[in-house]
Amino acid sequence: MLVVEKNSLTAEIEAMVEKYGNSRSSLLPILQDVQRNHKFVSEFAQQEVARLLDIHPVEVYSVISFYSFLHSKPMGRNIVRLCQTITCDMMGKVNVAKAIERELGISFGETTKDNKFTLEYANCLGMCDQGPAMLVNDKIYPRLTPEKAVEILNEIG
Ligand code: FES
Repeated sequence: MLVVEKNSLTAEIEAMVEKYGNSRSSLLPILQDVQRNHKFVSEFAQQEVARLLDIHPVEVYSVISFYSFLHSKPMGRNIVRLCQTITCDMMGKVNVAKAIERELGISFGETTKDNKFTLEYANCLGMCDQGPAMLVNDKIYPRLTPEKAVEILNEIG
């Protein structure tokens, strides 16, 4: 007899559905649990969540895209978020962004090959009077210059 072993990720998501219920309102807590356990929500996980909650995968993906703490791709060990909102933009964000991209050899939205850094843009970080500002993991860095931003990244790990 052929026994097909259930994918462990499927079993894990089934347990989450059991825990939170299979209504639409369970979508966010389930995605948070998947994110916590795996550091991102893979395409397969998204499909399984959609299947088990009986919703369209696009709905799952749009929730992941909406919340900055959910990711559909593996992230680097350090997440660098540079504020792209108007005040920081006017205070020199573009030059800071260029310097960071040059230093890490990647563009915003990408992760370095060694998985050390992921670069993302963020909306206002609440430091508008001290821009340009960036968040590296949980720490905020205000009043950046291109040189200062590169220095901060070089000091990490
Ligand atoms: S606009 Fe950048 S921190 Fe507010």
